Amino acid sequence: MPRRTLLCTIAMLLLVAVSSALTIGTRAVAADDDTDDRISLEDAKKLKSPVPYTKESIARGKVLYRRDCTECHGADGKSQVDVIANATDLTDPEYWASGISEGEVYRSIRDGAGDAMPPFKDKVSKDEDLWDMTNFVRSLWPESARPKLAE
Ligand code: HEC
Repeated sequence: MPRRTLLCTIAMLLLVAVSSALTIGTRAVAADDDTDDRISLEDAKKLKSPVPYTKESIARGKVLYRRDCTECHGADGKSQVDVIANATDLTDPEYWASGISEGEVYRSIRDGAGDAMPPFKDKVSKDEDLWDMTNFVRSLWPESARPKLAE
């Protein structure tokens, strides 16, 4: 019967639609659970940046910083922003709580820091963006604390 075939086809299509919706739903939940792949402080200390500290990287990092970070840390990194209290003064590494090696700064940006700094690993399109931000943040430090430009 052609009519039964049609109904059968519709039923099959519905089944496929429902099961793929379920699969997508499960994936979304898995992606939200970002607690497991955080980098430990110990591992962060050993991390070496794949992106050298160059003017180009700092410039790329600055663009990303303007997009993602100024609302809490301010355009100059000094965090004199009225809305959100207690964001770290990024220009003064002497008082930082989560480490100032390149891997530790990368970790703070990637996984978040303290109670109120959000993780950015899912908000950037590639890992290098996080390293560019790391390089930009380190360029805000006093000259004596800054890394040497690679060039
Ligand atoms: C929602 C507000 C908010 C945003 C957006 C934000 N931060 Fe933060 N950030 C904080 C707060 C609050 C802290 C202090 C966390 C703590 O140690 O308690 C912090 C801490 C940090 C630290 C660690 C400093 C330390 O003490 O070791 C770094 C590095 C940092 N932020 C960089 C960034 C960068 C780069 C961006 C943009 C990608 C950014 N932050 C975006 C609120 C924010």
